[in-house]
Amino acid sequence: MAIVIKTPEQIEGIRKSSQLAAKTLKHLEQFIKAGITTRELDQIVETFVRDNGAIPATKGYKGYKYASCISPNEVVCHGVPNDYTLKEGDIVNIDVTTILGGFFGDTCKMYTVGNVSEYAQRLIDVTKECLRLGMNEVKPNAHLGNVGAIIANHAHKHGYSVVFEFCGHGVGIKFHEEPDVPHIAEKNTGPILKEGMVFTIEPMINAGKARCKIDRKDGWTARTIDGRLSAQFEHTILVTATGYEALTDVYGDF
Ligand code: MF3
Ligand code: CO
Ligand code: CO
Repeated sequence: MAIVIKTPEQIEGIRKSSQLAAKTLKHLEQFIKAGITTRELDQIVETFVRDNGAIPATKGYKGYKYASCISPNEVVCHGVPNDYTLKEGDIVNIDVTTILGGFFGDTCKMYTVGNVSEYAQRLIDVTKECLRLGMNEVKPNAHLGNVGAIIANHAHKHGYSVVFEFCGHGVGIKFHEEPDVPHIAEKNTGPILKEGMVFTIEPMINAGKARCKIDRKDGWTARTIDGRLSAQFEHTILVTATGYEALTDVYGDF
């Protein structure tokens, strides 16, 4: 299967869904406080998405049971909502994918609980920079590998490692489409980008080693192998005639 070029009608549908996913992340901000559990946050996501006429794409996806992935501290991604209670100083990623009118929008960002260490804040800031630098490589006729090349260069410059076991992905008509979008790659490798392609960029950057291990009990939650912190930001990106449009970038905050 080749990389799907979306029609203008499909792009409009994906844009609407992406905007709702972004609004959901914004809506969550007021609830991020010490004392709330990740399960409660997931319920807030589910209610908000459904109240806006959409379905949370993760629910029922490959047996996953929740409306979001909530990944605190050393959790890299796919954190299963549970009775973990946020505490002062935590950093936490929430990842929401909506299905609105049949179209998928996928985004995630980091939240901080009260005051966090300078060390944690720096990881968050650099990860956000990695996403922006990657996005700026997106334009017609560029190689997709340029995205991962600049992300890895920036992360390594700051002494961090890049998760290679999970990638960005084509998105829009299905949850996960071609291509895979690696966050560590060689310049001028990989598929050539064309106007109308839609994919995510979602770098996961680790303070320590790059490797992950999956929780044996829940089968999903991926943690850093060394227990050190991990951060992630994600946007759904459309390749335009001149560059890109970040469909989930409604607020300009990452
Ligand atoms: N939203 C995640 C992504 O960015 C995928 C979550 S799949 C799940 O690709 F099953 F873990 F929810
Ligand atoms: Co994604
Ligand atoms: Co996501």
